[in-house]
Amino acid sequence: MIRTVLLFGGRSAEHEVSILSARSVANAAPKQRIEPIAICIAKDGRFIAPERSAKILDGSEKSGFGDEQFSFETWVRSTKPDIVFPLIHGTGGEDGTVQGYLETIGVPYVGAGVAASAIGMDKAHMKHAFAAMKLPMVEYVQVLETDWKNERDRIVRAINNALRLPYFVKPANSGSSVGVTKVKTDGDLGAAIEKAFRFDEKALVERGVDAREIEVSVLGNEEPEASVPGEIIAGREFYDYEDKYIENKSQLVIPAKLPKEKIEEFRRFAIAAFKAIGAAGYARVDFFLERGTSRVFVNEINTIPGFTNISMYPKLWEATEIKYSHLIEKLIDLGLQRWRAREARRDSAMKWFEEVKALT
Ligand SMILES: Nc1ncnc2c1ncn2[C@@H]1O[C@H](COP(=O)(O)OP(=O)(O)O)[C@@H](O)[C@H]1O
Ligand SMILES: [Mg+2]
Repeated sequence: MIRTVLLFGGRSAEHEVSILSARSVANAAPKQRIEPIAICIAKDGRFIAPERSAKILDGSEKSGFGDEQFSFETWVRSTKPDIVFPLIHGTGGEDGTVQGYLETIGVPYVGAGVAASAIGMDKAHMKHAFAAMKLPMVEYVQVLETDWKNERDRIVRAINNALRLPYFVKPANSGSSVGVTKVKTDGDLGAAIEKAFRFDEKALVERGVDAREIEVSVLGNEEPEASVPGEIIAGREFYDYEDKYIENKSQLVIPAKLPKEKIEEFRRFAIAAFKAIGAAGYARVDFFLERGTSRVFVNEINTIPGFTNISMYPKLWEATEIKYSHLIEKLIDLGLQRWRAREARRDSAMKWFEEVKALT
């Protein structure tokens, strides 16, 4: 039995979605191989002991406050779980912080490591990594809050020169479309940038493309594979927070209706994007397919994509012939494999030091 900690909740706007992802995994994990243990991070940022976390997972308890007495690290040392499956989307879960904590206390985990998680979360760093691999992206301008305060007019001119309306303004670190604004007139630009600064000190202004939104699931470690592409048809003007979590009028089309050569292009770019940030285990890569020009742009990568049984990530694998329960098992195996390979390397590094010491 692989004793698997489902780590969920967290302090981000995606706390509730995270509970749904973990609940889905707990229900679908193959019982003969995987023993799920629930651990919730409360909305106040503190950990909750397994007994109460299990109740949060089944919906009979709330997750507002953590357990004062419970220490996750102490619990890990005594219980010795085999692996942690972090299912916290967005800030404080998908951004490398949880991964760094797990590394420090020495417990294996599913998915991308510290650097890949952090790069994937920060849209500015992500764009640099993608640019280095020559991945196609929409034109954009980065704005730092300090620069905005000091030289607002110069920045507005730079944006007007570099891009054409409409713009999309977004915080570099956010997620779930929180803080994202479509700007249709020059007069609305300043307010949109300032809105983005509510969430991060770095904002990005992009050329808004009239595009279909295509997503691809990637799975694996060193030799990742890509699923068939799927399409999101937004229920509102764009795929914003209301559309994602409140109105639920958006539709998933799986597989996306695309010509063969485009399908291959998306899969190739998805794998390249995964490798560009050095991801591991899994990630969902989101694209724009521009109407009129048929140009493909990589929009972003998500290293902890929505993972309920009806989310895009598992649905795409189902269409590519990997069932949800098997996918869970695969991700756990990939996490263990990666950890073992890294342990072996740590051992070989130690041996090298000893050899050098013996020589001197
Ligand atoms: N440059 C753009 N052109 C057109 N639509 C965009 C652009 N950037 C973002 N959007 C719309 O906003 C949504 C959220 O933006 P995204 O960059 O994916 O942020 P998040 O990380 O919050 O999901 C996208 O799914 C899309 O509908
Ligand atoms: Mg997105």
